Amino acid sequence: MKNSSSSRIAGFHKLSVDQRVKALASFAQLSAEDQAHLLNTGNLPADMADHLIENVVGTMNIPLGIATNMRIDGVDRLIPMASEESSVVAAVCNAARQCYDSGGFITSMSGTWMIAQIQLVGVSDPEHARVRILERKCEIEQLCNECDPILVGLGGGFRDLEVRVIKTQSQTMVITHLIIDTRDAMGANAVNTMAETLAPRIAQWTGGQTNLRILSNLADRRLARARCIWRTQDIGGETVRDGMISAYHFADADPYRAATHNKGIMNGISAVVLATGNDTRAVEAGAHAYAARRGHYGSLTRWEVTAEGDLAGSLELPMAVGLVGGATKLHPTARIALKILGVDSAEQLARVIAAVGLAQNFSALKALATTGIQKGHMALHAQNIAMMAGAMGEEIDQVARVLVQSGKVRLDWAEKALSELRSR
Ligand code: MEV
Repeated sequence: MKNSSSSRIAGFHKLSVDQRVKALASFAQLSAEDQAHLLNTGNLPADMADHLIENVVGTMNIPLGIATNMRIDGVDRLIPMASEESSVVAAVCNAARQCYDSGGFITSMSGTWMIAQIQLVGVSDPEHARVRILERKCEIEQLCNECDPILVGLGGGFRDLEVRVIKTQSQTMVITHLIIDTRDAMGANAVNTMAETLAPRIAQWTGGQTNLRILSNLADRRLARARCIWRTQDIGGETVRDGMISAYHFADADPYRAATHNKGIMNGISAVVLATGNDTRAVEAGAHAYAARRGHYGSLTRWEVTAEGDLAGSLELPMAVGLVGGATKLHPTARIALKILGVDSAEQLARVIAAVGLAQNFSALKALATTGIQKGHMALHAQNIAMMAGAMGEEIDQVARVLVQSGKVRLDWAEKALSELRSR
C-alpha cells in the first residue's frame, strides 16, 4: 500500500484488522515493530475487539490490580481495578485495612431504575399536554413492557411516569420520563427502545413534535450508597480526623476543590467500572451531575464525627452498571473480574463500587490532611520514571529507591542513577 496523507480512507471499516493496520502504517509511518505491537491484542482476541467497536486496529492494555482488605456488608471481597494511575489501588487497600476490624463498609441501593427522556416541542399548551400524557400512564406502561418481554419476565419493566414542563432558551418543552427497572442490565438499549417506541404516540396525543428520545445519565433512581466508620484511634487521632473533615468542608464549599475531590472518588469507581466492562463515561456523567444537584457543584461524599468521636463517611451517587449486555458479558477479562468480585446482581456490583469510591476518598483526604499525597505517590511514580529511563527487572526498584531518597523523581536523575548502577 503506498504512503497516503489523506484521512479519507474509503471503506476503512470494511478492511480486516491487519489491512487497517497496514493502511494506518502508511498514513502514520508506523514501523514494522509498531505494527506488530498493534496486532498483538493480548488477552482480548482481535476478532472480538473488532466486534466491540468500529475500525479496530489494536487494543489498549491497562493494568488490572486487586484491592485487598475490603469487607462489604459483612462479606470479604477482592476488588479488581483497571487503572493506569499509580496509588489508586493502594489507596483502597489502605482505607479498607483501617476499617476492617471495625466492620468495614455498609451499602444499600435505591433500586435499579433508569430514566428515558422524550422531548416534546411545538405545543402551545404545555401544561395541558403534560396532563394528557400523564392520563395515558396505563397505555404507556403496556407499550413499554411490550418492547421488552424478556426484561419483564426477569421482574423488570415499566415502573413510573413523570412529565416535566421546562423553559428553555427557545421555547417551553414538555419532557416525558419513562422510569424503567432494568434489573441486571445497565439498560441503555432497553430504555432507548422504549423511548423511541413511545415518542410518535406522544406527538399524536398532544399535537406536538417529538425530538430527542434517549436515556438520562443522571440516574437518580439508581443510587448506590456506602457508609463506614473509621475509629479515630485507628486513623492517627483527632487531628487527622478533624483535618479530613475540614478537607471535606472545603470541597463541599468550593467547586474548584470539589472537582479534584470527586475526581479522586472516581479514580476508584471508574477503575472497577472499567474492570467489569461497564460504561465509565455514563457513571462519571451521572456522578458529576448528581454532585451539582443542589444548584452548586459539591462533594459526593459526606464526612462527620460520630457521638463516640469516630470518623463517619458516606457516599451516595447514581450507579448505572450491569452484569448482562455489552462488554461485561463479552470481554474475557471483565468476566473474570466479575468472578473475582463474586457478585450475582447489578445491585451488588453497584454497592461494591460505591464502597470503593468511599475508600478512595478516605485515603485521599487522609493523605492530603497529613503528609500530602506526593510522598506515597512518588514511590510508585519513581518506578514509572525509572522504566521511562530504560530500567528493567530489578533495576526498576533500585533506581526508584535512589530517586525517592534523593527527593528528585525526575527523568534526568533516573538516567544518571541507571547509568551509575550499570557501571558498578
Ligand atoms: C489524584 O488522582 C486524586 C486526588 O487529587 C484526589 C483529591 O485531591 O482528593 C489525590
